[in-house]
Amino acid sequence: MRRPTILVTGAQGQIGFELARLLVSCGEVVVTDRAKLDLADPDAIVAAMRGAKPSLVINAGAYTAVDLAEKEVALARAVNGRAPGILAEEAKRLGALLIHYSTDYVFDGAATAPYPEDAPPAPLNAYGASKLEGERAIAATGARALVLRTSWVYGMRGRNFLLTIRRLAAERDELAIVADQIGVPNWCRIVAEATARILASGLSATAERAGLYHLSSGGHASWYDFARAILGDAPRPRVVPIATSSYPTPARRPSYTVLATVKFETTFGFGLPDWREGLARCLAASEEPTG
Ligand SMILES: NC(=O)c1ccc[n+]([C@@H]2O[C@H](COP(=O)([O-])OP(=O)(O)OC[C@H]3O[C@@H](n4cnc5c(N)ncnc54)[C@H](OP(=O)(O)O)[C@@H]3O)[C@@H](O)[C@H]2O)c1
Repeated sequence: MRRPTILVTGAQGQIGFELARLLVSCGEVVVTDRAKLDLADPDAIVAAMRGAKPSLVINAGAYTAVDLAEKEVALARAVNGRAPGILAEEAKRLGALLIHYSTDYVFDGAATAPYPEDAPPAPLNAYGASKLEGERAIAATGARALVLRTSWVYGMRGRNFLLTIRRLAAERDELAIVADQIGVPNWCRIVAEATARILASGLSATAERAGLYHLSSGGHASWYDFARAILGDAPRPRVVPIATSSYPTPARRPSYTVLATVKFETTFGFGLPDWREGLARCLAASEEPTG
């Protein structure tokens, strides 16, 4: 049987990098990064899709600089808002399936219980608005697509909270960390593994479950909790909880964005472990010898 061609965008990113490795056993993986396929360039997207003719396209590329997006609104919208719609349109034309990632930042954080998929989105910042635009652009095409919203993604490469905390811990005696924003940290590898597990049922079975899903680890945490968990028992640095109001950033951030994952779990028959278990796995993997 012919192996399916799988086009992955953003393959140097946290989730994209893990996916590209995992999917090799599922098909011919065409990996693209910004240099090979600039998602801000609609013609390049069309050319890449028509050239590769994938049966599956996984859009792991995104403009993820939340604060910078306040200034670079047009670029964030091109990459996060427009590109997913073009990928979806081209996927539909080819009869391909699209898997796309979105974010907890589509919500305003006013909730006090986990957000289900059908909760009304109301992004507080330009990044969240651009990602919501992307979700809507995909839906408007009627393509077969799985949109997986996740949150607080980290790993051992790229830019993320875990690596920032580790760097700051080496430089400072005290870290002041926001304690009044609540969400769920997700190791990029666990998100990629869950995506691969969905796909293990085959492309047709996956396509039958097209829709919007919340894909997240269990439990919840503040950034302060997450920092404490990253640093473990180390006596230094001291970690001090602070309020969001004491740490102004260009982008406003929602105060509560825990995602309800019941729909994902009942549809696909599995869920993700608690975020602390994911973190333990990530930290253990980083200790393993490579090569
Ligand atoms: N990171 C989070 O906390 C988080 C939370 C919720 C949802 N998500 C979503 O999860 C998905 C994957 O995120 P991630 O954490 O893996 O992000 P990431 O590590 O920032 O990776 C995104 C990748 O997209 C690439 N990219 C940016 N602009 C591009 C362009 N114009 N053309 C092509 N590629 C471009 C980046 O390349 P460069 O490095 O060259 O910029 C990067 O390799 C995204 O849809 C994101 O919105 C992420």
